[in-house]
Parts: sequence; C-alpha cells; structure tokens
Amino acid sequence: MKLLVLNGPNLNMLGIREPALYGSRSYADLVRFIEETAKDAGVEVEVFQSNHEGMLVDRIQSAMGVFDGLVVNAAAYTHTSVAIHDALKAVGLPVVEVHLTDPETREPFRHVSYVKPAALATFAGYGFDSYARAIRFLSEALSSK
Ligand code: DQA
Repeated sequence: MKLLVLNGPNLNMLGIREPALYGSRSYADLVRFIEETAKDAGVEVEVFQSNHEGMLVDRIQSAMGVFDGLVVNAAAYTHTSVAIHDALKAVGLPVVEVHLTDPETREPFRHVSYVKPAALATFAGYGFDSYARAIRFLSEALSSK
C-alpha cells in the first residue's frame, strides 16, 4: 500500500511560522514523523510540499495508478482552491484531509474547505498527530476493501 502525503503553502515554514499556533518543530521534523508513522503502519509513503497550486494539482493527477490513497493538507488552498477540489475528484483516489490546527475554530475565512467534500474524513487540530490519525485511518480503510 502506497500513500502520498501532500502539503501546501507555507508548511515548509513550520518551526518559524507562528509557533504559538503551529509549534516549534520544523517541516523536516514533520516529514520524519510521517515516514516513521507510515513505517509503523506498514505502508509506503511519499511526502510532497509545494507553495504553488498548479504543482499540487499536477502531483494529484500524477498520483493516479501509482498511489492507493492521498493525505492532503492543502494549507491556505484548502479555503480557496476549486482546482485542487476538482483534481481530487478527477483522480477518484481515497483522500483524507488533515490540518495541524482546527480551521473551524479559527477565523471565519478558514471555515470553508474545498478539500472536505472530496475527502472520506478530516483530522484537524491534533498537530503532527493529525497526519498519524489520517495514515492509520487510510491504511485500515484500504486494507478492509
Ligand atoms: C493549516 C490551516 C490553514 O487554515 C492554514 O492556511 C495553513 C495550515 C493547518 O494545518 O492547520 O497554512 O492547513
């Protein structure tokens, strides 16, 4: 089983950006955490980050036939990107939405998610553990298929 974890804009700034919200651990720490979680769950994982909407769309399209599921933190594009929504729907792979914080308890402009309607589940507000919950959820959902 092979999962693709997609991270959107500014997540590469983890550890520097708003540490009171996002914590003091870096993006490299997050990647390591995801790789360790996947190893423990017995799944293969690839992690991709981009600040560019089109790059994320390209990565989603090229996941077709290569990956069994997607874990998506589209970051700010969560709240704006019909293109990412359409790409997720187009490839038809199982998607789980994740966020470090819980956008629904933050500013009103974060309350809309264009990823959610394309996702089987959302894990938000658990910091790095949101990714662990998503990976375990997807691996269980895929192995019971
Ligand atoms: C985020 C929440 C988004 O609202 C924000 O734009 C981000 C990060 C999170 O993981 O908590 O960049 O997706």
